[in-house]
Amino acid sequence: MPEIEPDLLAAAREVQANAHVPYSGFHVGAAIRTRGGEVFVGCNVENAAYPEGACAEGGAISAMVAGGERLIDALVVVCDGEILGTPCGGCRQKIREFSDADTVVHAAGPDGIGASYTMAELLPDSFGPEHLI
Ligand code: THU
Repeated sequence: MPEIEPDLLAAAREVQANAHVPYSGFHVGAAIRTRGGEVFVGCNVENAAYPEGACAEGGAISAMVAGGERLIDALVVVCDGEILGTPCGGCRQKIREFSDADTVVHAAGPDGIGASYTMAELLPDSFGPEHLI
């Protein structure tokens, strides 16, 4: 499993600071490096109408697609707290849409030490675009 890339971790940390989290106070940052080598970032954006809040990973994916890229090579998600934060269930499905067998997802905490996963580990037996063909 590839290590967390320092540059991608730094990008996730930088955008984490921009999270709009007046309700949870829980800052999350995500950074994607595409197979084409481009980097896209996102942070969580909460809303007074709570269910309208958006996760960091979804923001990074939207930026990637808007930027014309479709294949995630590596994604880093950074959270604070003592327990390592991994992508929520909904985000796993969103990442899955733009992943292949070589896609790696890294989870990092405040000290940078984390865990790394394949999408098969995060979302086994998942539903994807190929099911619709
Ligand atoms: N959050 C994310 O941004 N990504 C995840 O994968 C899990 C949760 C955000 C949503 C909300 O703003 C805050 O963390 C607390 O759930």
